[in-house]
Parts: sequence; structure tokens; C-alpha cells
Amino acid sequence: MCGIVGYVGNGQAAPFLLEGLSKLEYRGYDSAGIAVYDGQIVNVDKSVGRLAALREKIGKDMPQGTLGIGHTRWATHGRPSDRNAHPHADCSGDFVVVHNGIIENYLSLKEELIEKGHHFQSETDTEVVAHLIEDVYDGDFLSSVRKVLQRIEGSYSLVFMSKKHPDELICTKQDNPLVIGLGEGENFIASDIPAIIGRTRQTFIMADGEIATVKKDSIKITDRSGNVLKKKVFTVNWNAEAAEKGGYEHFMLKEIMEQPKAVRDTMRERITKDGSGIVMNELKWDKEYLKSFNKIYIVACGTAYHAGLVGKYYIEKLARILVEVDVASEFRYRDPIIDEKTLMLVVSQSGETSDTLAALKEAKRRGAKTLAVTNVVGSSIAREADAVLYTWAGPEIAVASTKAYTTQLILMFMLALYMAEILETQTPTRIKELIDLLKNIPGQIGETLSDTEPIKTFAKRYGFNEDVFYIGRSLDYDVALEGALKLKEVSYIHAEAYAAGELKHGTLALIVEGVPVIALATQKSVYEKTLSNIKEVKARDAVVIGIAADGDEELIKYVDHVITVPQTDELLIPLLTVVPLQLLAYYGAITRGCDVDKPRNLAKSVTVE
Ligand code: M6R
Repeated sequence: MCGIVGYVGNGQAAPFLLEGLSKLEYRGYDSAGIAVYDGQIVNVDKSVGRLAALREKIGKDMPQGTLGIGHTRWATHGRPSDRNAHPHADCSGDFVVVHNGIIENYLSLKEELIEKGHHFQSETDTEVVAHLIEDVYDGDFLSSVRKVLQRIEGSYSLVFMSKKHPDELICTKQDNPLVIGLGEGENFIASDIPAIIGRTRQTFIMADGEIATVKKDSIKITDRSGNVLKKKVFTVNWNAEAAEKGGYEHFMLKEIMEQPKAVRDTMRERITKDGSGIVMNELKWDKEYLKSFNKIYIVACGTAYHAGLVGKYYIEKLARILVEVDVASEFRYRDPIIDEKTLMLVVSQSGETSDTLAALKEAKRRGAKTLAVTNVVGSSIAREADAVLYTWAGPEIAVASTKAYTTQLILMFMLALYMAEILETQTPTRIKELIDLLKNIPGQIGETLSDTEPIKTFAKRYGFNEDVFYIGRSLDYDVALEGALKLKEVSYIHAEAYAAGELKHGTLALIVEGVPVIALATQKSVYEKTLSNIKEVKARDAVVIGIAADGDEELIKYVDHVITVPQTDELLIPLLTVVPLQLLAYYGAITRGCDVDKPRNLAKSVTVE
């Protein structure tokens, strides 16, 4: 996720670009840049760090000009640096682009362009777009952009600027957001509405494949074949704060809703073209070396630890390697048994959690190879680890982690499949079958999110109970742990998760009339046993909400309510069952009037021990 802006009009471009970017910093903030055409040359200013660093660099010498583009970056390809910051230019400096997304085939395009004599300045995927338009340019800006689009694969919103065409910007999108703001004698382009809301409320919301030629007093939108499209003006009536959250009341809800896209982005580029295998180019070790690990340690905190528990299940089940999971704050004080045959997998959304970082350093000191699963390019954990797998979930702002969890699961599932392929612990048919099902997950999360009404009703009904219990077996238990953590951290309800079979060893004493129990029952091998645990709590008059897969006709006979999720392999179902639990926590917190995005006593990133 990055933020992009563009301006063409009678006014000065730079003030809008900086103001717009400040409203988009929630989309990325590791570097920023603007390009403004002053009538002779395109001046590009960029700086690593937050927008404030760029403002400081520019100082009082605001670039002059009425045409410009800008970008605030959340790094994907190439670590945060001045060089990798956008905008990116071609060799001549005539064409400049800003981009949000990933150009999947950039490596082959880059090789081709280098062979033709192009000189690259950055490590980014985006720079190929600038050189590509230079390469295909035929004197007609729009037709050249169309030629570029025929060559690039991936997800993008793009704005093109050229000093050869000083009266216009061209923008387009595929799988990433883009809006155009309609002004008087000026028009605006942005990733998202917050950037333009201070200037206009009249917008065009761009759709995939549309290309807009934006001039100061006209906007022409065509499809990729050049047919002119008529678009409806959308009038924004949100306030600025709501606009930043995409119209949602809270970042937590926005991030829950972003999960279909987030998990799709995690998978992108990591499945072979024919869908039969996993690509993990980021792993630096060759396959023979990967085979030599005899143990994997997964170490993390909080939600990332819960994701690690699922990761253990995936790796053990699919790749048949022993996996230990530990909370980072315990790991380094227990004299862990680690050597050069151990792969240490640290999981951290922020990449800055101090306990996780310390555990990583300790494992390295003891000779383990280290692999980070993180969301933040250039974070301390990413820099310290021997190899990194990025989740590509985009910035997570709410303290309660949601999309980080699902994307971590996806990545660990893919890692397990990759290792299974290498170790030949699963047949190619089974691997292909699981990849096919994996590809359905974004859509299935979308389905799960499509009707939140029943969950709102449960939250209202049970939101004032002081205790809630979550039970499940096998992977359902791991998801129960995450559901309970979500509920307690945002709604301050005492929530506990138990392995359903453990109830009778003590916790059953707490189950009395009216206590809500959320029971997950999706794992076939332990389904009957889970049912008998559910009967145990029902016999004590608990109110049970069951979570099951579509088509389960049995569970409803024993519980008070059922929430279902689409059917998939039981390995993948945690990606779906966690979604109603996230929503339950969110709406529970709303019912109780809690400050959802900033729960008391908690911080997004825990950088102290
Ligand atoms: O950034 P990290 O993934 O390392 O953070 C770990 C935990 O602090 C984090 O998951 C925390 O538990 C969340 N607030 C849970 O929603």
C-alpha cells in the first residue's frame, strides 16, 4: 500500500501534493517524494522517512509549477531509501511516474530494458514503468500508456507525467484504488478520498482498466481499447476523519474488511503460473540446504504468536518437520536448544517488537538460520534476519491485529507447501489441490464479511457479559486463542480460550447458566469429540455460539446459534473462522463504547521489553 497524488490546474501543484500526501500517510510512510514541472524541467524531490523529512528537505524553496505528482511509500521492492522513493523517472527525465502496487513481471522487463541501454537508478519494480514508456513512446501520450499497460502484469494504480505533455496527467488502475477530484480550473488525482476532500467533494472513482487523461478543465476516461466511457460523478459526504478510514468508523473495521485484498496480495507472485507449485524467491538458501533443517522454531508475540501456532500445524502436517513455538518473551530465557540445523522463524507484523527482535538475535548467536515473516520492509527484524518473507498486507494502524494475522497464516501455509514440495512429503496432486483451494480464500473471506448483521446482534446480546469462553480442538483451538485475545483487547471483556478437551480438567467449574461459549467445530478428525465438549457446557446451561463450515447440519442441534463460513480444506478454514471472531470483538467493543482503535494500556508496536 502506498499513497499517490497528482495535480493539474491553474494553481501551484506542490502545496496540494504535500497536503494530499499528508492525508495518505496512513497508506505508507517510509519515504515520500514529489515531482513538479516548472515549464522547463521536472524537479524531483524525495526523502526517506516520513513526509516531514521531505518537507524539511524542500524547506522554503517550494518547487514552482502547475503540474505535479507525489507519492508516500510503503516499501515492497527495494528497502526504504532516497533512491527507492518515488517518483521514478526514465533515462531522459522526460517521463515520471508514481505507483501503488506491484509490477509482477518487472524483473524480465528490467532485463529487457537494460539490454536496450536503459539505466536504472533504483531497486524498485516501479522504475521499469518509467523506462518502458520512454521505450514505447510514439508521440501520443495516451497510446504510449496503453502500450505500457499491455506489457505490465500485477496490481497498480499509476500516474504518468511527461514534460512533453505539460498540460495533462494520465492515470490508471488495476486492483488498487484511485480517485479523481473535480475542481474549477484544476483537477486532482489521489489514491483515496482523504487527499482531495479539502479541495473538492466531486469525484470519479476509477474502476480497473480505466485510463483517465486529466487536464485542468477536462477529464477523458477510456477503456484499454480506447473507447470513451461516461462516468457518474460521486459526491463525497463523509467528513475528513471518516474519509481516512475509507468511510469506516474505525481502522480496525477497515482492516478487517481489507482482508480479501491483503491475502490476495500475500499470495501474489508466490504461485507458479500453472498453479502447481509455490515460488519463494526470497529464501536465499538452495533446496538442498533447506532439506538439512531438522527443527523449526517459531517465535513471536501476541497475535503473531497465535499465527505461529497455526504455522506449526501447517509445517508439521505438510512438511513433516518438527516445529517448536514459543512466545518471544520466554524464548531467550529458557536456554533454547538450537544449532545450525535449526531454522528460526520469527513472525512480527511491525518487525519492531523488542522481545521478538531479541529472540532473533539470540537464535543467530546460537548458530540458527533466521527467517522473518513481517509486514514492514526495512524494519529492524527484516534487517536482522538472514531472509525475509513479507506479508504485503499494507499498513496496519489499529492496535488490534487482524489482516496481519490472516496474511501471516497465508505465508506460513505457503512456506509449508514449499517445504513439502522440496521434501516430497506431499504428492504433487495434493499440493495442487491445496493451492487451488488457497486461491479461493480471498473470495471466501469476502463472502464471510458480506453479512455482519448476525454478529452485530450477538455482540449486542452478549456484549455485557463479563466472561466469554472460546473452545475448540486442533486448529480450532489455535483460532479460539486469537478470538479471545481480540475480544479482551478491544472490549475489555474477560475472554479465555481453552482446548475443548481441557475443560473438564478445571475450567468447567466456571461454566454456569448464561455464560457465553464460542465453540469452533470445523476439524473433521475431532468433530465428534468437540460435540461432546459442547454438550458438557450446554449441560451447565451455557449459551453456545457454534462456528462451523457451511453444510454442517449437526451442530445446530446442540448449540443456541451457529455462524457458518464457506467450505474449504480444514487446514485453510482458520482463515475463515477467525473473521467472525474479529467482527464479534469489534462489535462487542462498539456495544460497550470502547475506543476500538486505541485500547487502553496498549500500543501498536511494543518496542520495550
Ligand atoms: O508487530 P508484532 O506482530 O510483532 O506485534 C506483536 C503483538 O504485540 C501484537 O500482535 C499484539 O498482540 C496485537 N495487539 C494483537 O492484536
